[in-house]
Formats: sequence, C-alpha cells, structure tokens
Amino acid sequence: MKARQLVVLGGTGFVGSHLLPRLSAQGHRITVLSRNREQHRALAVLPGVSIRSADIYDDAALRSALAGADVAINLVGILNPHGMNTFRRTHVDLTRRLIAACVDSGVPRLHQMSSLKAGQGLSDYLKTRGEAEALVKASSLHWTIYQPSVIFGEGDGLVSRFAALLRQAPVLPLARAQSRLAPTWVGDVTEAIARCVRDDHPARGHSYELYGPEVLTLGGIVRAIRDAAGLHTPILPLPDSLGRLQAQVAGMLPGKPFSMDNFRSLRTDSVGKTDGYAALGIVPQPFTPWLPLLLQGAARQHRLDDMRKRQR
Ligand SMILES: NC(=O)c1ccc[n+]([C@@H]2O[C@H](COP(=O)([O-])OP(=O)(O)OC[C@H]3O[C@@H](n4cnc5c(N)ncnc54)[C@H](OP(=O)(O)O)[C@@H]3O)[C@@H](O)[C@H]2O)c1
Repeated sequence: MKARQLVVLGGTGFVGSHLLPRLSAQGHRITVLSRNREQHRALAVLPGVSIRSADIYDDAALRSALAGADVAINLVGILNPHGMNTFRRTHVDLTRRLIAACVDSGVPRLHQMSSLKAGQGLSDYLKTRGEAEALVKASSLHWTIYQPSVIFGEGDGLVSRFAALLRQAPVLPLARAQSRLAPTWVGDVTEAIARCVRDDHPARGHSYELYGPEVLTLGGIVRAIRDAAGLHTPILPLPDSLGRLQAQVAGMLPGKPFSMDNFRSLRTDSVGKTDGYAALGIVPQPFTPWLPLLLQGAARQHRLDDMRKRQR
C-alpha cells in the first residue's frame, strides 16, 4: 500500500483518537488540524502524526493545511463556533468550505463522517448531515461517506455519561427510552475507515452504514449499563410531553447535557438496513459484552475527575 499524506479534521476527538493509531500503523503521514494543538500533544507521539493548530473556518488556513495532501478526512463533531448554535452554519458550512479547499489545493480524496439516518427526521443534526452528504456527493472529489449508529468504546459519550448519571441520580428520568439504536464499537468504525483509506479505489463513491449486531432501545442500553455497573438506580421512561420538557430545561444548562435537537434526533431510530461492515469484510462487535471493560475505564476516569475536583 502506498503511504499517503492525510489531513484529518476533528482527529483529536473520540473517534479520531481511536483512528489515528490505525492510520499511523499503515505508514501514512498525518496532519491533524485542531483548535488547540497543545491540548492534544499526546497524539503526536504516534509515528507520522503531527498536530497543527488551525482555524478550520479560515479558508486560507484550510487551503494551506491541505497543500500537498492526498486525502482529507472530516471527523469534526458537533460545532458551536463563535457562539453560533446552528448545525447549518457549522457542519454544512464546514463541509462546503472543505470541499472547495480540497479542490483549490488539488486534494482529490475526501472521507466524510456522517451519521446513520442522515437527511431523515426532524432534527437539525440529521437534516444537516444529509445536506452535507449531498454536497460531498455532488462534488468533483472521490468520496466515501460513513454513517454510524451511536458509537461506544473507551472515551465515548454514551457508556461513561450514563454510568456517571446512574451513579449520581437517585432516579434516572429518561426521554425517548423507546428509541431503537444499534450501538457500534469504535474499533469497528475506525477499522472501516482505515480499510477504505488502504483500499482506496473500491471505496470510492460508497456510503457505508455502520451499525452493531444488537438492536436495543435507549432504555435497554441504560438498563444494561446500570446492571453491568452493579447499580440499582430506577430508570423512569418519560412520556414525550415530559421528555420534551426535560430537553428544554437541559438545553439551557451549561454544556447542554440534552437538547431539543437530541430529543428530535431520538425520534428517528438509529438502526440500519444495508450492512456496511459486511461490504468491508468486518464482523462488528456486540455492545453488552464490552460493558464490564468500558465501565472499569469509566469508573477510573470518574475517580480521577473526582480527585481533581477536590484538589481545586
Ligand atoms: N460519537 C458518536 O456516537 C457518533 C455517532 C455517529 C456519528 N458521529 C460523528 O462522528 C464524528 C466524530 O465523532 P466524535 O464523537 O469523535 O466527535 P467529538 O469527539 O465531539 O469531536 C471531534 C472533534 O471535532 C472538533 N471540533 C468540535 N467543535 C469544533 C469547532 N467548533 N471548531 C473546530 N473543530 C471542532 C474537535 O477538535 P479540536 O478540539 O481539536 O478542535 C473534536 O476533537 C462526528 O462528525 C460525529 O457527529 C459520532
């Protein structure tokens, strides 16, 4: 396989930190663009990986970072730049700018992280994922799109977040407990991307739905986390009227732990139809057997965070 020059946007996040070691092991030279390289220095110890501070909303900076690259990978998560809180001004805008910068800089190849059910339902998150996908597909670039269901793994926002809530709350009121999801392991998602980077030609012009073999309701996921953690916190499924209220209140809290847009996203089941893993020769991992291992890591992190809080 030919080693390439890759530029990764959003590579310092949850998925990126699992993807970079795989890409590094393939021998590529990888530039990761970040708002703050100092916070992510640990990733730069990987062979071939360098972290560069860049404002990805600055077209000139983006073009300069892409100059001479062969491949761009866009993993940027939910954005809220400059206080704006609309996905359209963020995910779609960034994708448009990235495509233009790739074309201007002569970068022929784009891997775009999207989401299962992109373009469906009523949430801004899913609608704008669909709009961004349409831009990618209409571009002159060779593209591959990844559409995962909710992703679990070390450092995720699913198992660790619910484990923390279940430890702290006497009762856990849960909006959209009946929503169905097919959690997929971060190691499988990153293997899918790494295979498409490695086997470039067959992956061109393909969208891959990436979902795990277990289809669970959100309530079922939270119950599985609670049971695996040895907790007994009652879980209270909320009717949609109260779930909406919970989303409105939580959406006003710092860090927005849950929002109306999350509520709307959960109204669309995150369950796939076309097995992208099978197409890539990957047998995806089920969710529940991973829980004991993930919870050990989450508990360790919880203890560390607690110690840090006490020391302040
Ligand atoms: N996690 C899931 O369950 C899941 C499921 C389906 C799809 N996805 C999609 O997969 C992609 C990666 O997910 P993830 O969980 O790894 O995301 P993440 O950890 O939230 O974020 C990825 C990176 O995006 C960059 N970013 C965030 N806000 C930014 C801003 N305002 N300006 C510039 N960069 C910004 C950050 O890099 P810096 O801080 O270094 O700038 C961050 O490390 C996302 O597109 C996500 O929507 C995730």
